[in-house]
This record gives sequence, C-alpha cells and structure tokens, in this order.
Amino acid sequence: MAYSIKTQLTDAKKQKPAADELGFGKYYTDHMFMMDYNGEEQGWENPRIIPYQPISLDPAAKVFHYGQTVFEGLKAYRTADQRILLFRPQKNFKRLNLSNERIDIPPIDESFVLQALKELIQIDQDWIPTEKGTSLYIRPFIIATEPSLGASTSTHHQFIIILSPVGSYYPEGIHPVKIYVESEYVRAVKGGIGMAKTAGNYAAGLKAQADVSAQGFAQVLWLDGVHRKYIEEVGSMNVFFKVGGKVITPALNGSILDGVVRNSILQLLKLWNIPTEERMISIDELYEAYLSGTLEEAFGTGTAAVISPIGELHWQDKKLVINGGDTGELSAKLYDTLTGIQNGEKSDVLEWMVEV
Ligand code: COI
Repeated sequence: MAYSIKTQLTDAKKQKPAADELGFGKYYTDHMFMMDYNGEEQGWENPRIIPYQPISLDPAAKVFHYGQTVFEGLKAYRTADQRILLFRPQKNFKRLNLSNERIDIPPIDESFVLQALKELIQIDQDWIPTEKGTSLYIRPFIIATEPSLGASTSTHHQFIIILSPVGSYYPEGIHPVKIYVESEYVRAVKGGIGMAKTAGNYAAGLKAQADVSAQGFAQVLWLDGVHRKYIEEVGSMNVFFKVGGKVITPALNGSILDGVVRNSILQLLKLWNIPTEERMISIDELYEAYLSGTLEEAFGTGTAAVISPIGELHWQDKKLVINGGDTGELSAKLYDTLTGIQNGEKSDVLEWMVEV
C-alpha cells in the first residue's frame, strides 16, 4: 500500500514538564498519529498526524462493551550526540499484529506504521527527555469503533500512537520492589488471551493490584490458572530468577506475554555465557531454592519497568528476602548494559537500535 501521511501541526505547543516531575504516563506530547479502518474494502486509510486531542466515539463503539482493543509499549531515547534511537521497534509492531490476530482485529502494515512513528517522533522530538533514567514512551493502540451492541468483530477500528515523556515506572526507580504472590485471582489461562497485549489482561489484574498496593507491594506475581503453582509473570513485567548460577524464566506457554525486554535479556545472558532456562518453575521450587540458599537474585523486565530488581516476595505467610533486599550484581549489570545500549552509551552489539 502506498500511503502518504497528512500532517497538521499545532499552533498551541504545551509546556514541557521538568525531568523530576515526569513519573510514568502523566504527560503527552503535542501531536499524535491516527488512521482508520473503514471495512474490509477500504482497509486502513487516512493516516494523519494531528495535534494531540481528545477523540470522540459513539457510546455504542464496541471497544467500550467488548474490549476489542490491543496496544504496545516501546521507547525512544536521545543520545549524547543528539541521535534519536528506538529499541527494537519491529518486534513491537510484529507483536501488535499477533495480538490483533488473537482479538480479531485486521493487521497493520508493520513497516508503514514504523515509518509513521518515525515521522511523529521527528515532529515532537523536543519532548524526548535526556536525563538519566528518562525516555519517550510510545503507546500505539487500536480500538474497535463500530457503533453496534452485537458481540461480534467490529467492522471499523482506529489505530492511534501517542507519546509520553517518562521517568521510572515504579517510584522505587532501580531500587528493589516488594512483590506479592497472588493465590486467589488468576490473570490468564492457556487458550485465553494471556499472550496478547490487550486491555482485558490488565483489567483482570487491577483488583489484585489495588488490594496489594494498599499493603505496600509494587505488584502481584501471577501463578498459572490451572495448577495455581507455576510462576507466570508480574503485573507489568516478565520475571527472572537466578538460582545456583543459572537464570530461569517461565517459558512462553500461551498465557504469558512474549516481552521484548525478556527476549533481549535472554540474548544478553547467552552472549555472556550465563546458563539460562526457559521452563515451568513452581512457587514451591522457588521457595525450596530460597530455603537452601540458592535463590540469588530475582528481577522483572518490561519496557516501562526496564529491569526491576525484586527485593522481597511474599507468598502466603512466607516472606522471601532476596539478596538481602538489595539489587543483585547481575540485575545491576543487565540494567547498566541494557540502558547503556538504549541511550547510545554502550556498543549496540546485538544490533537492536533503530535510528529515527
Ligand atoms: C510496557 O511495559 O510497555 C507495558 O505495556 C506495561 C504497562 C502496564 C505499562
């Protein structure tokens, strides 16, 4: 498809927040990208960059009633020599199409939307923060817009990209977080939508998240929905454990998210000849490792969370304090390497970065 992107620039640019006020997902840049899907015959059309603004939808739009929606999260960085880099954006758009497939949303043209994203970032490039630990978070998403209460696939959709300058996802920053192992609720089951990046998976976790936040935990760790014992993922992160020198992460089994950072960490560990295992790991096995002193480190990985060391895991009445509650050596090395590659300070040995 040959598209050309219509651009309408704002004449009312917003004031940019100070770096120490950023937090996560609180501020949005001056422009956004949009395109529409108006039925099979027309397909995706009318790509445009417009001033950031509210969107107007019919109250019967299917996204409100049946949750037909998918999203992605990726980041852009400004290097010291003023280049703008994206971290593995092709993987995000590929995963968006996998989510689309599962939720029955028509596929997008991955290379076109990457081009559109680059154009949007060029326009709003002054919004990319440069302070350590900051970046421009990119949120592409699709919503079902057909105004119909029939519980069936929408004939119309909108694809939108918004940009948000961000600091760290957790107030703890790179300091270890406390995580609660959830035994009552489950997030997903095999055959369900757990592998798709779709709103319903996050909605399923909100109640558990709210309950444990009130007790001082950053997030919950989900166990599998059938046996209620195999570790799946944390609210907004994949999860890794260093046990007796090996690094173990739950295998992609259809109910957990195929994280871009997860994949990148596995690649770095292989490059460093650190043994890795992608397999089922039960909470009992982890507890045994803790008791025997072989559970050395735990950390979560995600675009928003980057690498987040886990200092404490609470499971039923047990409290597992990992690495004395401090950031482990490997977690710190992974964080420094990954963020160094992302902000252009370290050599991009695995050729991940894409210049805008
Ligand atoms: C991301 O890490 O980009 C995500 O989409 C997780 C979200 C809960 C912030």
